[in-house]
Amino acid sequence: MQYTRHPAWSVLLRLFHWCFVLSIVVLVTTGFYIHFPWTNTMIEGSSSFPVATMRYIHFIAAFVFTGALLARLYLLLFGNRQERFWDFLPITGRNIKNLGSSVKYYLYLDDNEDHRLGHNALAGIAYFVTFIVACLQILSGFYMLYPESVGWQTWGLKLFGTQQQGRLLHYLFMWYFILFAATHVYIVVWNDIRSKEGLISSIFNGTKFLPEKPEQN
Ligand code: HEM
Ligand code: HEM
Repeated sequence: MQYTRHPAWSVLLRLFHWCFVLSIVVLVTTGFYIHFPWTNTMIEGSSSFPVATMRYIHFIAAFVFTGALLARLYLLLFGNRQERFWDFLPITGRNIKNLGSSVKYYLYLDDNEDHRLGHNALAGIAYFVTFIVACLQILSGFYMLYPESVGWQTWGLKLFGTQQQGRLLHYLFMWYFILFAATHVYIVVWNDIRSKEGLISSIFNGTKFLPEKPEQN
């Protein structure tokens, strides 16, 4: 079968992806430390204060994470065709059909993949849920970060309950990202081996390969 190369992901989407990934690695590491500091938190006779340093790094990564997500929210509406939400959510007939065939393909019930330039609808749902959890993570984070802000405290209290409840939710959301990352990396590697689209390289160079004849949309 002949494959041709097509541009799939804009530079901004790829930048989002890698800023998101790197910031999450830093946020999870520093988050675990804030949750349960695994070193001495005050070193006698030294001016080092590891918890404050970890929190500082957490907040820098948090701003990168927030900036990346804002860029992705913009692309959901104004990105290229593959990046807009109606291309990958099961809200059109074509996407609902793709959801069914993707589930069969993933369960090894059907070897014929419904090739698409963008995400399949199953992956699309997972990414969309991830964006929602990311929004909640950001809101609960800023709720904790700005205890003196009336705006953040009013909305934070309504959405997450008390500071301590918000903090617990923030911690639990972290587990979503850990589980998502493990499953996601497994599935993209699985897909890259099974189909010849060059899926993993697409998130670096922005292009994907599709069979020449079959429908690409
Ligand atoms: C994937 C993203 C993130 C992860 C995995 C994460 C993880 C964590 C974890 C595990 C904690 C410790 C909670 C506990 O004590 O049980 C924490 C604390 C905190 N995080 Fe995040 N976080 C993320 C994003 C953010 C964002 C976007 C902000 C926004 C500013 C933020 C602000 C905070 C604040 C203010 C604290 C409390 C620090 C303290 O009380 O000393 N986090 N985070
Ligand atoms: C080295 C590890 C990783 C590789 C090789 C990788 C690769 C990819 C690839 C190939 C896609 C496009 C897949 C498709 O079309 O369905 C993608 C999308 C995505 N990945 Fe990753 N990924 C990695 C780690 C992560 C991590 C750790 C996260 C977050 C926890 C993440 C979050 C996402 C999201 C949200 C998308 C959707 C992109 C969008 O439309 O905005 N990735 N990744």
